[in-house]
Amino acid sequence: MSMGSPADRVIIFDTTLRDGEQSPGATLNVEEKLAIAHQLALLGVDVIEAGFAVASPGDFAAVKAIAEQVGIQGGPIICSLARATRQDIQAAAEALKPAARPRIHTMISTSDIHLQYQLKKSRSEVLAIASEMVAYAKSFVDDVEFSPMDASRTDREFLYEVLQQAIAAGATTINIPDTVGYCTPKEIGILIAGIREHVPNIHQAILSIHTQNDLGLATANALAAIEHGVRQVECTINGIGERAGNAALEEIVMALQVRKPFFNPYFGRAVDADAPLTNIKTQEIYKTSSLVSQLTGMLIQPNKAIVGANAFAHESGIHQDGILKHRQTYEIMEAGSIGLPENRIVLGKHSGRNAFRTRLKELGFELNETDLNKAFNRFKEVADKKKEISDWDLEAIVRDEMQIQVESGYQLEHVQVICGDCTCPTATITIVTPDGKILTDASVGTGPVDAVYQAINRLVQIPNQLIEFSVQSVTGGIDALGTVTIRLEYQERIFSGQASDTDIVVAAAYAYINAINRLYWYLQTKNEVLQSSATVSSR
Ligand code: KIV
Repeated sequence: MSMGSPADRVIIFDTTLRDGEQSPGATLNVEEKLAIAHQLALLGVDVIEAGFAVASPGDFAAVKAIAEQVGIQGGPIICSLARATRQDIQAAAEALKPAARPRIHTMISTSDIHLQYQLKKSRSEVLAIASEMVAYAKSFVDDVEFSPMDASRTDREFLYEVLQQAIAAGATTINIPDTVGYCTPKEIGILIAGIREHVPNIHQAILSIHTQNDLGLATANALAAIEHGVRQVECTINGIGERAGNAALEEIVMALQVRKPFFNPYFGRAVDADAPLTNIKTQEIYKTSSLVSQLTGMLIQPNKAIVGANAFAHESGIHQDGILKHRQTYEIMEAGSIGLPENRIVLGKHSGRNAFRTRLKELGFELNETDLNKAFNRFKEVADKKKEISDWDLEAIVRDEMQIQVESGYQLEHVQVICGDCTCPTATITIVTPDGKILTDASVGTGPVDAVYQAINRLVQIPNQLIEFSVQSVTGGIDALGTVTIRLEYQERIFSGQASDTDIVVAAAYAYINAINRLYWYLQTKNEVLQSSATVSSR
């Protein structure tokens, strides 16, 4: 796409790993971020905002690893956020070095309320900082994005001036954040039209939008911005993000796909022009959404547009009747277009490794031999208990087995529970500790899951508070796999875990161990950081 002329499609800037990770409890480790970044590349996003390099050593390592492994030739642009300070920009530039196409995204607040209470700076100071820091970022990379934070509540004349200066200093993308999710679609349209009219050099940059969802308007606002000439949209998978989240990538992309004839004219095309309006491979949407939900522990509400469990389900008799007669009576898109597998019964306990591998491949899972063996063994265990294994079961099995593990975590060896109406729920748990010790302990609890968690707590001795526990059935039927998702809190940080099993108490135990391992890894990293800073300061 050439600068200066409006792009003939929408650039998808995915910020799941930066703004998305700012959702309470969505903290991801480096391996998990890498797994998501690889999947985002498969999905076909144009830009991955991989993190906020200066924020922590973990963030820095993640941006660097993604730049190295995903930001290869032919891969997406890799971006790091940086406040408009030298230290932030240096950290971003350093972490992005390995990327074939690095982008620094620098930002500073511009609204009076932010200037007065948060930055304690005058407009002229902010103006000077913005252009100086854009130029500084430009000394490291060609591709610089600038965001005036809280743009939608910024005085218009001041906003135009800041944008003009930022472009003059070298910004190649100008992003307009509705930071507090305050605008309506009509207001967003007026804001963008005003910028295009009053910023004389705006045609030298790509215009971008970043919409938060505080009033549930993020997607509508992003689409309104596109109608008014914005050609980059910042969005996240499943709409996760700070507070109520961001515009959901899947909603933006499918709106542009399903309503292409409506949007085509805004791109100067014929109404019936066929070329897609984004580069996204929509068949990868469902897989990406499930991966993000699993790794962040943020469940998708059943009625969530596009990726919710009910998004393609028809309950009412009238609707079902219509669907049977002609699908398009009640369906504007096909489940297959987002890669949603049909819940077909595909395998059973007599199915062999080859059939298993072939079906997984058809579902888009390419496993190496070790992972395939692990997943196959687990499949056999489940197939012993559950006669028919559907695509959805397969997916849950693979996701469980593929969970990003580090070698030093706790392993669950055995779970045994006694419960019922005439007995005190009691759990006996055996685990292997990170240093290889086998430990067993037992506890009573208010119910079987509580007893399991109390016993695990006695063994691992890491204080934490369970704040969320949920069970979802993967398929219907009494022998269905149940997926347990939990969130626990430690010193105001939230850690999640997920696991599936036909026995939900067993799934609960595995989910808890997963979350405990994340907490354990966090404590390990924190300790390493503390130890290395102690060594530095004692020198
Ligand atoms: O919400 C916001 O303003 C942001 C910017 C950094 C784009 O996240």
